[in-house]
Amino acid sequence: MKLAQHAPIGVFDSGIGGLTVVDAVMKTLPNENIIYFGDTARVPYGIKSSETVKEYSLQITDFLLKKKVKMILIACNSVAASSKEAIQSRAGKIPVLDVVYAGALAASAIKRKHNLLGVIGTLATVASGAYEKSLRQLDSSISVFSKACPLLVPLAEEGWTDNDVARATLDIYLKDFKATAFDGLILGCTHYPLFKHSIREYFNNDELEIIDSANSIAEIAKTYLEKHDLLNPEPAGRFDCYVSDKPQRFQALAERFLGKPINRVEVVNMP
Ligand code: DGL
Repeated sequence: MKLAQHAPIGVFDSGIGGLTVVDAVMKTLPNENIIYFGDTARVPYGIKSSETVKEYSLQITDFLLKKKVKMILIACNSVAASSKEAIQSRAGKIPVLDVVYAGALAASAIKRKHNLLGVIGTLATVASGAYEKSLRQLDSSISVFSKACPLLVPLAEEGWTDNDVARATLDIYLKDFKATAFDGLILGCTHYPLFKHSIREYFNNDELEIIDSANSIAEIAKTYLEKHDLLNPEPAGRFDCYVSDKPQRFQALAERFLGKPINRVEVVNMP
């Protein structure tokens, strides 16, 4: 048996958003050990420059590489949009998967009537045009209509995803989409699936597909690990959680979201 089969999968985000990816990975790959890093001292990333986001992401990549991960999942669209290549080149042979490609892949597969997809994301992700590029490569007939929703990340970090403030904020951001005929809405930020229920209620349209990257990236990871004989054959499923600040607060939010207790959340000081 190869040693790397037991190695953990590294997942990271600026904060709790990446837990939407962790949740999907836990369900799709229950044997796998996971190391999560949430950069709680420096969240949000989506309003920062791409240089700053790249610098932070490479520091986290180094941390995960020291933990001997067998794969890295970039569970942050803002990072994927600006730093995927830099992270892959730092990681060398360790595979790096990202949520933008995973989300675009899932979105390109839905049934379409209008050939128009909506994308909501952080300022960084929307300004980068990463979804447009990725979707164009997958299917050039798809058009994209995107909107930055910067206030949703702090609301999610606060646990305010289903109250009057969340609903009023969604109304301001999503109003334009209501007036447009489109096939699906891509949640282009890993914090946004936490609002899925409120978003679905807002559109009140069963035909509208709401696409997030979490299941898609988990499936891509599974296919890769199977193909390279890297699946953990033993029922391990250990979850180690690290943050750069405020572990108790993170632990409470994370346990509420994952619906199970987390052993311990450790603080790692970033340079
Ligand atoms: N959850 C992240 C994303 O997918 C980052 C949000 C933020 O820190 O602004 O973009």
